[in-house]
Amino acid sequence: MNINLQIQKNPKGAPVHLLTNLVHLGNIPLQDEEKALIEAQVKNKIFIHTLFHNGQPTWIVYAQLEDDENKNCEALRQHGATLSQLIAQHKITEVGLVNHNKNELHTYSFLEGLVLASYRFLKYKSNAKELLHPLKNIAIEKESYSNDLLKKSTAICAAIFHARDLVNEPHNFQSATQLSDTLKAVGKEGMVKVSVYGKAKIEQLGMGGLLAVNKGSLEPPTFTIMEHKPSKAKNTKPIVLVGKGVVYDTGGLSLKPTPNSMDKMKSDMGGAAVVAGIMYALGSLDIPLHVIALIPATDNRPGGAAYAPGDVIKMYSGQTVEVLNTDAEGRMLLADALHFAKKYQPEFVADFATLTGAAANAIGDVAMVAMGTIGDFYMNKIKKSGFAVNEKVVELPLWEEYGELIKSDVADMKNIGGPVGGAITAGKFLEKFTDYPWVHFDVAGVTFRDKAKHYLTAGGTGYGIRMMVDYLSYLASK
Ligand code: BES
Ligand code: ZN
Ligand code: ZN
Repeated sequence: MNINLQIQKNPKGAPVHLLTNLVHLGNIPLQDEEKALIEAQVKNKIFIHTLFHNGQPTWIVYAQLEDDENKNCEALRQHGATLSQLIAQHKITEVGLVNHNKNELHTYSFLEGLVLASYRFLKYKSNAKELLHPLKNIAIEKESYSNDLLKKSTAICAAIFHARDLVNEPHNFQSATQLSDTLKAVGKEGMVKVSVYGKAKIEQLGMGGLLAVNKGSLEPPTFTIMEHKPSKAKNTKPIVLVGKGVVYDTGGLSLKPTPNSMDKMKSDMGGAAVVAGIMYALGSLDIPLHVIALIPATDNRPGGAAYAPGDVIKMYSGQTVEVLNTDAEGRMLLADALHFAKKYQPEFVADFATLTGAAANAIGDVAMVAMGTIGDFYMNKIKKSGFAVNEKVVELPLWEEYGELIKSDVADMKNIGGPVGGAITAGKFLEKFTDYPWVHFDVAGVTFRDKAKHYLTAGGTGYGIRMMVDYLSYLASK
């Protein structure tokens, strides 16, 4: 991450004053007219004010608090994102933040919005220097923040930057092997162990789902294992994360159309990116939980040897699948990873996948779809984390009736359901490869954005990392 955060007694840089009570204007060296102007503007719901003192900008950010702390934190993130734009306009490299209400969670949320909105993906821009966000250093006044939260801010934002970089990387620079190499580098930086199985090992294990999807590809598949195993782990059975690593989804022989569909499918490894980001954060923060991540990866293409609608595939679990649509490929490789997870006798498994357009159609870009067998107690904790960080989770049912829709005449199941309930039938398919408490997150609607929204920049978002790290931190604190 190219933005440095630090705590200082008297923070240097362009002053940023965060206040939740206008009385605090009295703490700031302002002229009477400036105070009067700010008070008047706040009445008109203008909350960020740029003042110039000796030609240098000073920012006064006012957040109007409500009873709902989750909403307050989100408003602060959004104010942070607005400030990021102003900092870019004024080409400011250093800011000094004072939060006059001294609430550290508010400081945290504001910083999160500011840093996340300042992300840029410029690897392939000739004029990257001009386009880079100018902000290099954020100094935070001592009383406004703690060292622990400073560490958390840095780790979470860096985790999200890594996930965004992974999603934004075009497929012609990111084969399955290249993805695994980057996962090794991210793991190293985050102090997480990474090992990679190549095609020979995948064949030897008999991961039929992953190999079937890979058949049309010129590039070998990979299966990456990341592990965070602190000596003081609170859990005896590991938690396993699984991320869909389809580095490009053409749909295969069931080819996708280009506009608004295949043209975005470099993002089909968004689940892998989220899982890698979570592992990076767990490692960097040394969260006391034993967590393993599994990332099956390949591209999905038509081609001479490509798997075809009508094929029957023998999966790693031994079950057979009738492939009726090669574009329902994510579940094929996730199924093998979910079966692999059994060997760890996990406490629970959580998978993240850009699995279905149906999930995106159902709830848009406002939340993730979730379903599973993890049980109401934990599902409610997950939803609570979703609300706390505003990466919301909407639960869909996994009722038996939906299982009927993936019955096959020739194999144990087929890889698509009917025309309705597509996110759920995908979930029912995955469920058949689990024998442990499990939760599935379909992030198809939130992983990739055409346009920026507040602190979610255009392109890869890293959506899901903040929710899951919040949830895992809760488990670690129990
Ligand atoms: N990668 C897609 C899902 C997707 C769609 C992700 C839009 C992000 C945005 C997935 O592999 C897919 O193609 N799913 C099919 C399943 C169908 C054939 C049952 C879909 O959703 O149309
Ligand atoms: Zn697909
Ligand atoms: Zn896909």
